[in-house]
Amino acid sequence: MTQTENKLLVSDTPLVPIEKIVSLCKRRGFVYPNSEIYGGVAGIYDFGPLGVELRNNIRRYWWWSMVQTHDNVVGIEGANITHPRAWEASGHVENFVDRLVDCKKCKQRFRVDHLPAENLEQHKCPNCGGELMAEPRVFNLLMETYLGVVEGDRMKTYLRGEACQNIYLDYDNVLKSSRMQIPFGICQIGKAYRNEVTPGNFLFRQREFEQWDLQFFVHPSEMEQWFEYWKQYRFDWYKSIINHKDRLRIRAHGPDELAHYAKQAFDVEYHTVLGWQEWEGIHWRQDWDLSRHSQFSGQDLSYTDPITKEHYIPWIVETSGGVDRTFLNLLLDAYEEEPDPAGKEPRTVLHLHPLLAPVKVAVFPLQKNKEELITTAKSIHKNLQRLMVSQYDDIGNIGRRYRRQDEIGTPYCVTVDFQTLDDQTVTVRERDQMTQVRIPISELPMYLLERVTWR
Ligand code: GAP
Repeated sequence: MTQTENKLLVSDTPLVPIEKIVSLCKRRGFVYPNSEIYGGVAGIYDFGPLGVELRNNIRRYWWWSMVQTHDNVVGIEGANITHPRAWEASGHVENFVDRLVDCKKCKQRFRVDHLPAENLEQHKCPNCGGELMAEPRVFNLLMETYLGVVEGDRMKTYLRGEACQNIYLDYDNVLKSSRMQIPFGICQIGKAYRNEVTPGNFLFRQREFEQWDLQFFVHPSEMEQWFEYWKQYRFDWYKSIINHKDRLRIRAHGPDELAHYAKQAFDVEYHTVLGWQEWEGIHWRQDWDLSRHSQFSGQDLSYTDPITKEHYIPWIVETSGGVDRTFLNLLLDAYEEEPDPAGKEPRTVLHLHPLLAPVKVAVFPLQKNKEELITTAKSIHKNLQRLMVSQYDDIGNIGRRYRRQDEIGTPYCVTVDFQTLDDQTVTVRERDQMTQVRIPISELPMYLLERVTWR
């Protein structure tokens, strides 16, 4: 399988402060704080017009490379609420907890697993040096909700704490309805909810977020080989969408970091101002999930090999990443303030991969007061709009219009000028190198499609 390689070349730029991205996101309509007029809710965000386009492109590219181009992978879309027993079986009711300690002096609260070892040993607050509580307090992260309206008959359940549980719950239905045979995978993109005690760093740690999961079901004897395949595949996938390849790595979990379901785990990590942080987890879940759901539901989820008739519980390779974390990492990776050689304002540019950029092309008439230029530019824009996200802009001078598009990562700008009226050609300006080519209007759709869609 070939993946589209990112051809962008940017010089190595300093790590971007999160505040720059927060400000750009609000100013240009990528992300807004949720319920802002009421003061907002910590760890919950809404996505604006450009944010939705970027998210859709990120999701589509993931789906294309995970489901559409793999014969042995299919997709589902599960509900956010499931039977509460599912969360007992999954181990989340018992084990999905954060341990927290408070400082007796400054009252700040810390996650035990985020404290430096020496502070933990000496019970010393990393903030003020005061004494930390000796015994951590334990908080479950599942968000509770209730089904039904009659008091006493209401059933307590949970918003899904990890999206992937639907895949195990639907595994048997998929097997029977899609005629898949092991080895095969099920993918899903969907929301997950966690009562994170310390949400923060913008989209990095939220209470409502979106995950993409592959659960790949294998014979135990083939686990090693498939685990290696997907680990490499996912690493390469992330590499293909970023500029700073040296800021990506894969790291094995130590035994003390493993989640309750994982026998082995690797994190694809990306380096930002937050340090090296998890982007996606690759987990060796073995037979944990199907065994537990068999046990708790009383339904036999074992598999019978159609040729050998061997009967076994399939083992699972999981690749689980975050749409929101991808969104944030891509913006941190793409953002650059390029110094202007003329000494004016720096050029803010998002070097987003053209496949993912929210707007693919912007069309300008050179001058606003020439009717023929406007009519031609609007007609080009209308034609392109059927194929890709296109914007028409005639406000301000051309330089300002380029700047506005650079800031949101639009890879191509098309200008209609007086020559266009003579020979039906336009200039196409490329975002990163700022080079311009002149091409016939008739060739424009194919010229752009080749550069902004994946094959
Ligand atoms: N099913 C396995 C699982 O949920 P995880 O490591 O807890 O594993 C997978 O989550 C991915 O989901 C993470 O790598 C991250 O990208 C994203 N993620 C997890 N918690 C998040 C949060 N609170 N806010 C945003 N993204 C989160």
